[in-house]
Amino acid sequence: MTIASDLVIFGAGGDLTRRKLFPALYQLHAAGLLPSDLRIIGLARRELSREEFIAQQYERLKTVIDGDAHWQSFADRLYYHCMDFSETEQYARFTRGWQPERMAIFYLATPPSLFGPICERLGEQQLLGKRSRVVLEKPIGHDLESSCAVNETVGRLVSEENIYRIDHYLGKETVQNLLVLRFANRFINTQWDQSCVDHVQITVAETVGIEGRWSYYNDVGQLRDMVQNHLMQLLCLVAMEPPNSMTAEGIRDEKVKILRALRRIDAASVASHAVRGQYTQGWSQGEAVPGYLDEDDCNVESSDTETFVAIKAHIDNWRWAGVPFYLRTGKRMPQKLTEIVIAYKSLPHNIFSTGDTISNRLVIRLQPNEGIEMQMVSKQQSLKNKLALETKTLNLDFLNSPEIQRVPDAYERLFLDVINGDPSLFVGRDEVEESWKWCDALIAAWGDQAVPVTGYHAGTWGPAKAELLIERDGRSWHE
Ligand code: BG6
Repeated sequence: MTIASDLVIFGAGGDLTRRKLFPALYQLHAAGLLPSDLRIIGLARRELSREEFIAQQYERLKTVIDGDAHWQSFADRLYYHCMDFSETEQYARFTRGWQPERMAIFYLATPPSLFGPICERLGEQQLLGKRSRVVLEKPIGHDLESSCAVNETVGRLVSEENIYRIDHYLGKETVQNLLVLRFANRFINTQWDQSCVDHVQITVAETVGIEGRWSYYNDVGQLRDMVQNHLMQLLCLVAMEPPNSMTAEGIRDEKVKILRALRRIDAASVASHAVRGQYTQGWSQGEAVPGYLDEDDCNVESSDTETFVAIKAHIDNWRWAGVPFYLRTGKRMPQKLTEIVIAYKSLPHNIFSTGDTISNRLVIRLQPNEGIEMQMVSKQQSLKNKLALETKTLNLDFLNSPEIQRVPDAYERLFLDVINGDPSLFVGRDEVEESWKWCDALIAAWGDQAVPVTGYHAGTWGPAKAELLIERDGRSWHE
């Protein structure tokens, strides 16, 4: 296994670096999991000395730094280089003194339009050798065409096995646990298809609005920001066949098959299969909050960008024929929640004459309160009602387990894997492109039918149409 020596972060002044990357690196350092010789080199436009950069990181990490014990040794790893990423000659300046024998990871925490140009400049400076890895943050492109263009340019310079496309949901502990749950438990594995499963729900809800990211988000919308990547990945992990082994190639091949089998939503089916919404003013956690068009940095009178999407999807293969996958994701929902629900079919014949429908649900909570719940039917303790039934929950609660002090952030897992050269939790080129094909078709169908966004009040579960989407089928969203 090759161990990295230099981690170069393009976009070191950005929001992602501040909120996620540096806290994750600090945690790994404090846990003694970073290679001892790893240097972390931040690149950004702002003129800063190394000392100023370190002081800035200290300020930002204050809440994470635990008693300062590890701070100084972490600071010793940090370097800074001021750079305009579009200026070719600045790369030459950066490369001076470069030690090619050190292994390099180039982390591109920049807009995707810069991925190609940055890699080209790095290539010109001979920095993209066999020992280099390139990490690309989502989104890879804005649609199929732009994503192919990025993949083409980067792929010309870096071999696929050295490209690490991040979807941070894959680094979440419970998402990895989903694979273990499915493929290490025989009784679950054998009940995982259309003969047993009635439908699947995937919900990714956030309480936050778009504050601070409005102009970026307004060009993107919830389908591109969340469905194309995070929800598609979750859907693939739920639906894919068992890979032959846990290698990156094995897992990616199975995920791609699901994306190819995902039925396109076209102009004829869009009205009954997809809902788009935009939040208006309302309440979030007890506070009045503005609507999407009243956010501080909004500079337009109207916008057709969706902040909520609900979809009824179908996977056309033997395992999932006839099983709908209901997906929903939105901003300004009543609670932060990421959850997968496997709703089982009811029994063919109810011998308990209770009149109740008897069925089980497996609930996989990715955040918050990571855990897995199996809703089972059992007998009520009662002498009066001899066979009265009730639903009870078997709960695998990860947070309350005594050996767990802290659930590591997804970026900690992903950094470690890049450093150790394990791409199994990263996204392959085919996956990104297949997912774009499906999303592009849906966006085209919305355009074709001129489907407007429907308003929903902040603090609610999206427009009423999202309830109808599932209720029309005699089902309801999991509470
Ligand atoms: C990002 C999206 O990929 O994921 C954001 O761009 C979203 O809009 C975020 O807020 C949600 O991530 P998490 O880990 O907080 O669920």
